[in-house]
Amino acid sequence: MSSITDLSNHPLTQAQHRIHQDLLTALDAFSIPEPLKSAVHHAVMLGGKRVRPALSYATAALKPNQNQAAVRRAAVAIEFIHCYSLAHDDLPCMDNDQLRRGQPTCHVAFGEDTALLAGDILQSMAFEILGSRLFDQGPAVDAAIVLKQMQILATASSKMVNGQVLDLQAEGKQIDQHALENIHRNKTGALISAAIMMAAVTIFEGTDLAIPKLREFAQAIGLAFQVQDDILDIISDTEVLGKTAGKDQQVEKSTYPALMGLDQAQAYAKDLHEQALAALAYFEPAQAEELLAITQFLLHRKS
Ligand code: IPE
Ligand code: IPE
Ligand code: MG
Ligand code: MG
Ligand code: MG
Repeated sequence: MSSITDLSNHPLTQAQHRIHQDLLTALDAFSIPEPLKSAVHHAVMLGGKRVRPALSYATAALKPNQNQAAVRRAAVAIEFIHCYSLAHDDLPCMDNDQLRRGQPTCHVAFGEDTALLAGDILQSMAFEILGSRLFDQGPAVDAAIVLKQMQILATASSKMVNGQVLDLQAEGKQIDQHALENIHRNKTGALISAAIMMAAVTIFEGTDLAIPKLREFAQAIGLAFQVQDDILDIISDTEVLGKTAGKDQQVEKSTYPALMGLDQAQAYAKDLHEQALAALAYFEPAQAEELLAITQFLLHRKS
């Protein structure tokens, strides 16, 4: 496994290169009028850690040499949905943010109307890609697998929206840990789980114990991701984050550090990572090398 300081060979870095090319190829498959086309490119192509595609690839790596097309499409689709969620999350009617991935947010660059539509079209494009034959080299992927992927992505996308509305309602309010966990699992955990499960269904049958183990991993890592996002809003700075630090406190978001204090929130994030690693212990370490490396990266991430 690569060390955290040398990321050049890390599965996340490799995933970033792979997804960059595939996102460009996928975007090129659509004919979109200006200025929407530029807004979509802005939302998708400028930066981003690409954690969700990396998790899709790393899950698929549990069983190498399988047909990769369905995994590549899933990685593009999940990143499209994620980028749509960010473009909408930043809108003035939502979190009202000006900076994303070190760039002006989509609505700052293109106006609210175009940013809204960029999110809308990305959502449809995600499902179009999933049902297409983009990247196919061999025989078509079993339609039952494609259907499962679509169901996973659709369910997670609506959970994300449910989480977002609960997040907005909870601003300025005291909510308990159960309610906060529900928000985080929906607004963020669901899409992270979908990245993993859309790849899982391409390599494992529904009856395989690997599926519930991966679900367990996905749920822990998905919740940990948003707990960490809440922590980074406090301990990191705007330049490193590429988004405005300290924003959650400013608008009294319900977050883990606000609920339990910074130290406890950090301990909780660590605990969730340990739960994720415990679920991965079901697999041979060599088999799960990429998932382990990405989990390790997530625990130590600074942005
Ligand atoms: C930010 O997600 C929004 C959350 C769901 C917490 P990421 O931290 O994955 O954002 P990018 O894609 O790297 O910009
Ligand atoms: C993001 O939560 C959740 C989604 C975009 C679905 P946040 O609002 O905390 O994400 P950031 O901090 O703006 O990236
Ligand atoms: Mg938000
Ligand atoms: Mg936000
Ligand atoms: Mg945040």
